[in-house]
Amino acid sequence: MKAIQLQGSFGIDSLALVDQPRPTPGPGEILVKINAASLNYRDLLVVDGTFFPNLKFPFVPASDAAGQVEQVGSEVTRFKPGDRVTTHFIQNWEHGPFSQTPAGADYLDSALGGPRPGILSEYVVLPERGVVSTPSYLNDEEAATLPIAALTAWQSLRLGSLQAGQTVLVQGTGGVSIFALQFAKALGARVIITSSSDDKLKRAKKLGADVMINYKTDPEWWRAIKAATDGVGVDHVVDVGGQDTLNQSVNALKPGGFIGMIGLLTGMECKLNVPNFLRRNARLEGITVGSRQSFEEMNIFLQEHQLHPVVDAVFPWSETTEGFHTLKAGKHFGKLVLIID
Ligand SMILES: NC(=O)c1ccc[n+]([C@@H]2O[C@H](COP(=O)([O-])OP(=O)(O)OC[C@H]3O[C@@H](n4cnc5c(N)ncnc54)[C@H](OP(=O)(O)O)[C@@H]3O)[C@@H](O)[C@H]2O)c1
Repeated sequence: MKAIQLQGSFGIDSLALVDQPRPTPGPGEILVKINAASLNYRDLLVVDGTFFPNLKFPFVPASDAAGQVEQVGSEVTRFKPGDRVTTHFIQNWEHGPFSQTPAGADYLDSALGGPRPGILSEYVVLPERGVVSTPSYLNDEEAATLPIAALTAWQSLRLGSLQAGQTVLVQGTGGVSIFALQFAKALGARVIITSSSDDKLKRAKKLGADVMINYKTDPEWWRAIKAATDGVGVDHVVDVGGQDTLNQSVNALKPGGFIGMIGLLTGMECKLNVPNFLRRNARLEGITVGSRQSFEEMNIFLQEHQLHPVVDAVFPWSETTEGFHTLKAGKHFGKLVLIID
């Protein structure tokens, strides 16, 4: 079978299409034929060596995919050949709050695409607990966008208990943020979105965004947010920027509001203005995607609201490096997908 491997050194241009033996499922495992995969910003940080500098080569990257069950091992009870499934990012996080396994292992040690091998292969073997059923109304290209980006956005809005009529700030127009926009609108919330591009802001408006702010031409964007909320601030922030956005997120927050700390697009270290944070009784919660149970709950919501992920571009997997370069350039809106055939 074919697979994409990071070979010999870090960097997008070290990704190569190779032949390798098809794996066989053991007890409790399923063999999944992968039809589509999606790329996440995280995949760039794995491929460039930022996240796992001691990664062993060759390594198959990326974590998010959809396909169908080809074969099941002994003791498998949840799936049968032909079932449509989507991968779950943190394989050992099945339900409940983020924690560690009973044996004391870090949940994140079971994340696909680093440190565990990823899914850019024609076939992968996973424990049956490491996938969810694909919502029937979505095709595989759409379903492949769900495991990280959609679930992270969902997790933030759920942990912050977003209610109809409240206001959310969504930063930028990448994968997580566009899902957050779609979920927030479906929940009946008001959405303020920022972007570096007026064209992308127009696209966000078509998806229902209520207030659009260009963070390049308006670098102190928190002031525009205060103005758009009659000086009150927003109830919830989906913070994907990190270093350079967190203090502005706090400034833009209503007293008692919630910030989902999700991303590090602008850097990994931040000097927090503590008095501003305290004065608001702000709540800040670190988010690492979500459990399989949250994924399944999210899929019910998606189906009920017939939400379709925004797939900006689809690449044949012979053009995987082009897909990664497109992601790195940040020109996309929503998600980038690879077709595995
Ligand atoms: N904690 C978690 O569980 C988790 C899960 C998923 C993602 N993440 C992190 O969240 C971030 C976003 O991930 P993603 O996959 O959605 O990325 P993505 O699809 O690559 O999105 C990138 C977009 O972010 C926007 N952006 C960049 N700098 C910005 C800034 N200063 N202010 C506002 N927006 C900015 C840009 O939007 P415009 O082009 O519109 O300006 C850019 O196109 C990454 O840091 C990723 O590692 C974390």
